[in-house]
Amino acid sequence: MGEVVLNPSSRAEQLAQFTLPSKLPNHIAVIMDGNGRWAVSRHLPRAAGHRAGLQAVRNIVSACAHWKIPALTLFAFSSENWGRPAQEVQFLMNLFHKTLIDEIEQLHENNVCLRIIGDHSHFEPSLQKAITYAQELTLDNTGLNLSIAINYGGRADITYAVQQIAEQVHAGQLQVTDISSELITQHLALNTLPEPDLFIRTSGELRLSNFMLWQLAYTELYFCDTMWPDFDDEALFNAICDYATRQRRFGGIENKENVLVEVL
Ligand code: IPE
Ligand code: IPE
Ligand code: MG
Repeated sequence: MGEVVLNPSSRAEQLAQFTLPSKLPNHIAVIMDGNGRWAVSRHLPRAAGHRAGLQAVRNIVSACAHWKIPALTLFAFSSENWGRPAQEVQFLMNLFHKTLIDEIEQLHENNVCLRIIGDHSHFEPSLQKAITYAQELTLDNTGLNLSIAINYGGRADITYAVQQIAEQVHAGQLQVTDISSELITQHLALNTLPEPDLFIRTSGELRLSNFMLWQLAYTELYFCDTMWPDFDDEALFNAICDYATRQRRFGGIENKENVLVEVL
């Protein structure tokens, strides 16, 4: 977004300073947490934290695009965040709406394919229109797959998938025995992307807060204490390097030569 286009050569130079590991995640999912605490610790209103958080989003999007990470999914507003004071909720919705309108053309120029996941059916019609426009405009782009989760909840995602499948069973189009883990996956948001390889949560909180519960089953989890507005290129680079050291076993064993020889 912003920076990539405004000063592309110096941004590219900044990012070229990092030597990335050869093993890169195909899909990074992030809970961008800590905007409020970032602001409060500076005696600023929480809204200032959300604005600063938006700048961190721009940086991370441009870094992922530059480093050729295929997919980035950002949790921006959870289905539980409606429980916040109405003023904060309104501020966040307005910030999202304005940013979407202001920056969609730049994202498109940067070949980003944008998806907005979550339940938007109760959003203001003008916001729904902006979302539809943004998704249609960037649909065929072949660069970074950027997904923003707004009014998203992992349980709601699974519930909706189950409802759709149940309807097909009810209509006689599917047998109960056709229901498999793959079929459920196909009915979830982001069903065209690989499941996240790397999950990042900032601000020191060690929980999933209802984010992509199904898709994170085998994702490598990375938690850091940095508040989201301070999460910069170096912080992302550190998370990617940490990921590169992980041995993913998916329930198997790492060294297949070291087999169990004792027979009970
Ligand atoms: C994350 O920061 C942004 C949203 C949830 C919208 P928070 O607003 O949760 O910041 P903290 O956790 O209160 O510091
Ligand atoms: C998770 O953060 C949601 C987003 C970052 C959008 P929260 O701040 O809402 O999570 P909890 O309340 O600490 O679990
Ligand atoms: Mg929070």
